[in-house]
Amino acid sequence: MICVVGSINTDLVIEVERIPFPGETIAGKSIARYPGGKGANQAVAAARLGAQVVMFGKVGSDQFGDDLRVWLQETGLDVGNIERAEGPSGLAVISVAESGENAITIVPGANALVDRRYIDKHLALLASCDILLLQLEIPPETIDFLLSELPSRRPRVILDPSPVQDISHLLLERIDLLTPNEHELRLLSGSSNIEAGSRLLISRGVKNVICTAGADGAYLTTPDACTHFLPLNVNPLDTTAAGDAFNGALAWAWQTRLLSEAIPYACAAGALATTKRGAQPSLPPLDEIETIMKERVQRESTN
Ligand code: RIB
Repeated sequence: MICVVGSINTDLVIEVERIPFPGETIAGKSIARYPGGKGANQAVAAARLGAQVVMFGKVGSDQFGDDLRVWLQETGLDVGNIERAEGPSGLAVISVAESGENAITIVPGANALVDRRYIDKHLALLASCDILLLQLEIPPETIDFLLSELPSRRPRVILDPSPVQDISHLLLERIDLLTPNEHELRLLSGSSNIEAGSRLLISRGVKNVICTAGADGAYLTTPDACTHFLPLNVNPLDTTAAGDAFNGALAWAWQTRLLSEAIPYACAAGALATTKRGAQPSLPPLDEIETIMKERVQRESTN
């Protein structure tokens, strides 16, 4: 079983020619509403591949909150522990440019109310899962508390340090796998060299680091080695939630595989998520992942 403790948002996605500069006004081409939030996206990504996933977090008392809960339940998540808090639900306003790049502004709403008391209430279940998936869209002190209350060996913990912020106060020794992108790794380690930056974080306590590098694939750094995983080539339409697809698929695959065998599934999921619009609607099912992985093997064997 996978547990995800994290954010649940409504995404308002505006399609634009390019991301506006500060102070500039530009016309958008369309607006659409999707379920999102890094926590919920990662939970849905794993559930879509067949994992049993329990989602922990809070929605607000508005219509968005009710809609999000229904959607997540229909997607196959266990939503029994999601609480409804008085006030607005989390909201993200996302501009997506023709190039596929995006810019995201978040209003945390109920996500900011995921606190120690909530974690304390659910600690027994959280401590009993196989993999615990975390991001940084709920208060950092809640993550801090959760990591310090977990038993020392179980579950395996994956932390996606996004949106990036200082993690030095966290119990880094309790993080089995940190999954920053290049930008996040640079900010967390102070190094723009992937292997050196990852090694620095390992020297501070994190057990392993996977740095996702977009069109350059991903790099797994363990205490013993740094391994490069090639990217899958796709034409990106919308990069929103590509990292979430990666993390959710990684958690699913890591349940039954070695980390090095799980990463190609995560790379494929991340690449495929960029080929469709929206966060959760873009998260790929297993057959699409297997198809793109097989195509690559065939291409490599004919070259
Ligand atoms: O990673 C993409 C997500 O970031 C969006 O769904 C948005 O809600 C923000 O949390």
